[in-house]
Amino acid sequence: MKINNNLILIGMMASGKSTIGRLLAKKLKLRFYDTDFIIEKKTKMKIYEIFKKKGEAEFRNLEKKITLKLLKKNNCVISLGGGAFINNEIRKVAQNSGNTICLDWKHKTIINRIKKNNRRPITLNLTNNEIKDLIIDRSKIYSEAKYKINCENMKKLQIVNMIVKILKL
Ligand code: S3P
Repeated sequence: MKINNNLILIGMMASGKSTIGRLLAKKLKLRFYDTDFIIEKKTKMKIYEIFKKKGEAEFRNLEKKITLKLLKKNNCVISLGGGAFINNEIRKVAQNSGNTICLDWKHKTIINRIKKNNRRPITLNLTNNEIKDLIIDRSKIYSEAKYKINCENMKKLQIVNMIVKILKL
């Protein structure tokens, strides 16, 4: 399929960007890229190791460099790390590079998922209320996405089909 621009998945950590992105790309027969996966491959380090050994600033530099390069591609599905769209430059480039799609869930669902698998350095030492504040803060920026999918109570393939339907793909 040729879509003439990219499909860019954004949203909070644990919102399913990588899983949905991969399924969406498969359905539409498009290439799929995941910024965190590429960062890990390039550095041969896990994201939490980069945070631990090099610090967040260095991670954000890497994230920016790799994401801006990826956004130059065309006809791809790209999943951004949860913090990437918060960066002004990445956000601007992403908006011009394709359709930004935010995967939206209830705060409680995201908090529960983060707590279930707490390997994410950003939330490692945060209380549930602090994570909620982070979600509220970031939501204002995520809401700049061209499309917002309310994923609550939907299964993976239903979310994929919803994206295909809303974007008339
Ligand atoms: C982050 C989200 C993570 C990863 C890093 C920072 C964030 O990606 O990039 O831990 O600041 O929200 P996911 O959204 O894929 O979990």
